[in-house]
Amino acid sequence: MDEVRLGIIGFGGMGRGRALEAVKLDGMRATAVVETREEARHRATTEFELEAFETLDEFLDAGAADAVYVATPNKFHAEQTVRCLEAGLHVLCEKPMAMNAAEGERMIEAARRADRKLTINLSYRATGPARAARAVAEEGLLGEVYFARTGWMRNRGIPGSGWFATRELAGGGPLIDLGVHRIDLALWLMGHPEPVAVSGATYEALGRRLWAERGRDYQVEDLAAGFVRFANGATLSLQTSWATNSEWREDMFTYVYGTKAGIAHRSVGGTYDFEARMWGETAGTYSETKLEPVRGPGHLEAFVTAIRDDGPVPVPPEDALQVQRIIDALYESARTGREVRLNG
Ligand SMILES: NC(=O)c1ccc[n+]([C@@H]2O[C@H](COP(=O)([O-])OP(=O)(O)OC[C@H]3O[C@@H](n4cnc5c(N)ncnc54)[C@H](O)[C@@H]3O)[C@@H](O)[C@H]2O)c1
Repeated sequence: MDEVRLGIIGFGGMGRGRALEAVKLDGMRATAVVETREEARHRATTEFELEAFETLDEFLDAGAADAVYVATPNKFHAEQTVRCLEAGLHVLCEKPMAMNAAEGERMIEAARRADRKLTINLSYRATGPARAARAVAEEGLLGEVYFARTGWMRNRGIPGSGWFATRELAGGGPLIDLGVHRIDLALWLMGHPEPVAVSGATYEALGRRLWAERGRDYQVEDLAAGFVRFANGATLSLQTSWATNSEWREDMFTYVYGTKAGIAHRSVGGTYDFEARMWGETAGTYSETKLEPVRGPGHLEAFVTAIRDDGPVPVPPEDALQVQRIIDALYESARTGREVRLNG
């Protein structure tokens, strides 16, 4: 395949960002969008010179793409992904993979049956500091990993787009929105131990009032906390929030503790800048090391390379499914007030 033709499904904030990224990449070209809003279709044709379709049927009938980037509200991820895979297209789907793990399983099964690439945009893996932390973990420098804590806490950061706080479209609040990234990073750095039990709690303390002040309806949690037990005895503590009375606009962190060393991937000073640090004893002296970021392709570029070379995708969908299973269990535990066991 000389050039991968990319269709963008959902031309909102993320869809537009990906169209701009695609312009700069070799080996691919954004060709079309699928978008329900007329205004966004107009923008796609006039500003980006893309073919615009109102429905997925029209887009698939036109055969205008080899691959798609799915960037619609969460509710549509599974259905649109499965339909595109069945039509023979490769899919890069936004996070969260789906509304729940059952939908995620259907997506993976559809990719297997169609023999097409499927990957999920758990994009923080592609940051330089995350790659540096992963390299340290892969080298075995942490020793035996027994505990991790991960989270993304905002003081006032409910997403502005209309659908994020609507349960039917989003599936949940900050846990499914932000938690996916931080749980994924923790599992990735821990070496993907097998989760066996999950305990969670969710709160709606500020969101409804903050949204009511803007005349908007708020239907999901604004804070979620959780605890995951793994088969090897390791545990993970999790916190996510869109609105708390706390210090930072954005506070993203993943600390992984091993018997030989600990590492962190974290945001700096409440911003979207990241760093990776490592702590441990070197020649008997306890010290801190700032890890040099490791360069690499972004997920869109890696997805296109996977298609062209028939190679591995940047994030295996099975990894995203594991995250989704943990999230489902956290919500169930929060609802029932009990620990939820996961069977394999
Ligand atoms: N990887 C990341 O860090 C990251 C960051 C932000 C958002 N996201 C994810 O990206 C997705 C989109 O988020 P966003 O911020 O761009 O939202 P958005 O609201 O800005 O854009 C969504 C677009 O989809 C369109 N749409 C809705 N239903 C549709 C349908 N059935 N068919 C076609 N178009 C449809 C809407 O009109 C809108 O233009 C979400 O799943 C979100 O979780 C990921």
